[in-house]
Amino acid sequence: MTIGATGGTRRDFLYIVTGAAAAIGTLAAAVPMIDQMEPDASTLAAGGPVDFDLSKLQPGQQAVVRWRSRPIFIVNRPAAAIKTLQDPNLLARLSDPKSSEPQQPPYADNWHRSIKPEYSVLVGICTHLGCIPMFYPDPSGSLPTTDWLGGYFCPCHGSKYDLAGRVFNGVPAPYNLPVPPHHLVSNTVIRIGENPPDVIWDFSSIAQI
Ligand code: FES
Repeated sequence: MTIGATGGTRRDFLYIVTGAAAAIGTLAAAVPMIDQMEPDASTLAAGGPVDFDLSKLQPGQQAVVRWRSRPIFIVNRPAAAIKTLQDPNLLARLSDPKSSEPQQPPYADNWHRSIKPEYSVLVGICTHLGCIPMFYPDPSGSLPTTDWLGGYFCPCHGSKYDLAGRVFNGVPAPYNLPVPPHHLVSNTVIRIGENPPDVIWDFSSIAQI
């Protein structure tokens, strides 16, 4: 797996995506950068929590931050996308629609796999062989495969996920995308890498990254 942020500068690891994302290294040069709330190098090296300002994210946009050397996808899901997450036609096509496998902390064990339905937080690593899935938030846009409502598509072997990171039936990836520890420290700031104050949950207990 190659992550453009590895060994790079601060510009490499934090950016916003509005459409399909190809290779991270290529995209990092082509999309707007967010230039605040980035942790310093010692925090990143220690794997400490990373704060992100959600007010920077418009509906349909995704930000990618790095936590413990992994890409973390943060998405502001539009109302239509939130509604789709409960569509029976979608649920029937998912391998683990109720998130029965321990791929998320208890506070994300719900239909939207997050603390607030508007915001998803996912580890951006395919559970098949570790490629970085591409972001397709718009079902009416150009999609790499037919009969799909968008979400995440892994170009390596064609695994598909919805916008909650739930994997589709009949693809190589065996599990939903992992949800990392996170919580809201204010109405607009989300902290990646730390559970809510009243929760004890070990990220290493996850079934598969
Ligand atoms: S690594 Fe994603 S489908 Fe194989």
